[in-house]
Amino acid sequence: MARDQKDYYYRLAKEEGYRARSAYKLLQVNEKFNIIKRGDNVVDLGAAPGGWLQVAAKLSGGKIVGVDLEDIVPIPGVKAFRADITRESTVDLVKEALGGDADVVICDAAPNLTGVWHRDHAVSVDLCSSALKMAKKLLKPQGNFVVKVFQGDLFQGYLNEVRKEFSSVHAHSPPASRKESAETYVVAKKMLTGPVRRGDVLDVQIEYLGKSGDGVAMVEGFAIIVRKAQQGEKLRIKIDAVKPNFAFADILERKG
Ligand SMILES: C[S@@+](CC[C@H](N)C(=O)[O-])C[C@H]1O[C@@H](n2cnc3c(N)ncnc32)[C@H](O)[C@@H]1O
Repeated sequence: MARDQKDYYYRLAKEEGYRARSAYKLLQVNEKFNIIKRGDNVVDLGAAPGGWLQVAAKLSGGKIVGVDLEDIVPIPGVKAFRADITRESTVDLVKEALGGDADVVICDAAPNLTGVWHRDHAVSVDLCSSALKMAKKLLKPQGNFVVKVFQGDLFQGYLNEVRKEFSSVHAHSPPASRKESAETYVVAKKMLTGPVRRGDVLDVQIEYLGKSGDGVAMVEGFAIIVRKAQQGEKLRIKIDAVKPNFAFADILERKG
């Protein structure tokens, strides 16, 4: 079954001119989550041989930049060069090539597998952490991020890190991923740029009541909707959900 599936996407890639069967994973992720839109500027981290770059170029038609440790045979409309995504200097190189910020950062990077499972998993999560760090520096506010992760005991912690930075986050295995594969894709939409994150505890004063009757506190110009709070109250609150333009919080303690 898995063998047939591999052969199916392998053959399809050959037939349709994609350099790697992984192209279908991005096409399927995009079909479900609408990550790349027409005109988007896209950065692909760990992009060789270039299947995802071909898909990104087709879906967006905008500026596309790809980096990898390996050379990438040129693709029309795509700037690609050798760089290590774990090095901080790579952010500047990508920004320069893109000539601005990105709408979407995608990362299918994978370590050379040693077969020692916990080691491969840890290196994969390290690469994903580098990708998240880069995405935070490269993306426009509300930009999207897709990253491949090998599942294992560090996966949940990584997912939580991504959840802090984006408005909506899903873990998804597209049909083109082999059934026996431990890979999954973390699909994160709408990068958050407000001053608070889920789980933050802070002291605030309620400035006014919103339409819903809940209290509203302002932090650096960003509205925090505090359930069951009254105007003027001084409170210790805990943020439990963050949206691009506001956050929700619960009261932990009423202060004098
Ligand atoms: C599965 S392949 C990517 C396939 C690609 N998405 C495609 O469709 O053609 C994973 C790539 O990650 C790259 N990679 C691994 N570590 C990297 C690093 N530190 N910096 C840049 N690329 C890296 C590898 O060289 C390899 O080409």
